[in-house]
Amino acid sequence: MGISLGLVGLGSFGSVFAPLFKSHPGVDRVAFCDLNPASLAKFVNDPFFRDKFDPKDTYTSLDDILAADLDALAIITQPRLHAPQCVAAMECGKHVYSAVPVISLPDFDEVLDWCDRIIRTCEKTGMRYMLGETTVYRPETMFCRRMADRGEFGTFVYAEGEYIHDVDAECNLRDVAASRAANPSAVPQSVVVKRRSGPEPKGSPMSYPTHSVSGPLHVMRSHAVKACGLGYRNRTGDPYFAKQQFSNVVGFYRMSNGATCRICEFREAPGQLGNESETFRIAGTAGTFSNDVWWRNRRVTAGRVPPPTRKTLTPEEMRDPLPAEVRDAFKRVEHRGKPESEIAKLDFTPTGHGGSHPYLVHEFVTAVAENRHPAVNAWEAARYMAMGAMAHKSALRDGEWLDVPDWGDAPG
Ligand SMILES: NC(=O)c1ccc[n+]([C@@H]2O[C@H](COP(=O)([O-])OP(=O)(O)OC[C@H]3O[C@@H](n4cnc5c(N)ncnc54)[C@H](O)[C@@H]3O)[C@@H](O)[C@H]2O)c1
Repeated sequence: MGISLGLVGLGSFGSVFAPLFKSHPGVDRVAFCDLNPASLAKFVNDPFFRDKFDPKDTYTSLDDILAADLDALAIITQPRLHAPQCVAAMECGKHVYSAVPVISLPDFDEVLDWCDRIIRTCEKTGMRYMLGETTVYRPETMFCRRMADRGEFGTFVYAEGEYIHDVDAECNLRDVAASRAANPSAVPQSVVVKRRSGPEPKGSPMSYPTHSVSGPLHVMRSHAVKACGLGYRNRTGDPYFAKQQFSNVVGFYRMSNGATCRICEFREAPGQLGNESETFRIAGTAGTFSNDVWWRNRRVTAGRVPPPTRKTLTPEEMRDPLPAEVRDAFKRVEHRGKPESEIAKLDFTPTGHGGSHPYLVHEFVTAVAENRHPAVNAWEAARYMAMGAMAHKSALRDGEWLDVPDWGDAPG
């Protein structure tokens, strides 16, 4: 028997995930929840969902859906709401999938408090938490993870990651902020959201660090122990940055495996530094990965080795396979509306943020069904957020090296 799952937040991003969650073979029943009746109507009235959706499973607030007999919720609401909503869901006996980040707030002490609270809630309730970080399921990350598992990097030496999203990029951050602010929002009545005292601090691009840090952390299975951050303050008087301490921050880290790491979170820099705006590069003593190229010299001991081999990889070569029935189900989503006879002849190409979306859905559904922690669980997610928090705090002190808090690995 498959799981039952409710989608909470059917805005721009949640809309993209609804057909995937509905179509996964491990899901038997879906429910829809949004405060906005127009967002709900798009799904409730769509015949595509009818085989797994009963209109009785329509909810107009998170408080309502928390009372429903569902196994899990996927929470894809505005970024400042995720953590309290996830805690409330787990308290009500539901596994949760959260859109990134864990929470976005200008006060990084509060961000770390919420990471702690989510971990404690997982421990107390036994519920599973997954952060839906797209970078972890990009082809490059899957390939590097396989190489790391086989020891092909040798000893990790250095990693760098970046998320360069200029405020006026094609996906314009002014428009995104205005649209999210215009959408309704609420945290459940059961959760007390208490702000720390004092005036609200100014924000930072490091409140959304998950795209840039997750590649290096996930591949190296390591975490930051020391952080140093340096910030750039907007100099044009742009009102978008009025409530931001920095528009760009660079973080430097000493990692738990002895490697060094550099992370850039930039909102005021057009274009990209490497081949992608959202990417990472990793060097080991025996293997190095950059963009789509893998170098390897098989060094294991002291002394001369032949020059490295160089291989350029396609996304298909880098991706992990999905089970055949899952690929088939997602192929029907990709080619929705076409006749069956035509779909049978077509291929499936994973799409959405480097093809990560189908993998995110598959990981969450299988983790719940198998009663295990997802790869990006509450403990791993806290490591992503802590790297951002400590780089920002260090930048406020002009680059003073600071310890990075850590909650350890997910138990068993
Ligand atoms: N690469 C990525 O991983 C990526 C990309 C885009 C967006 N996101 C994340 O996805 C999230 C959603 O972004 P979006 O652009 O879709 O936002 P959005 O404003 O379009 O959608 C949010 C929806 O949540 C609903 N909502 C809020 N509170 C609710 C409640 N209590 N009960 C029910 N519904 C509620 C709103 O009505 C709205 O429809 C953000 O947190 C963002 O960070 C991640």
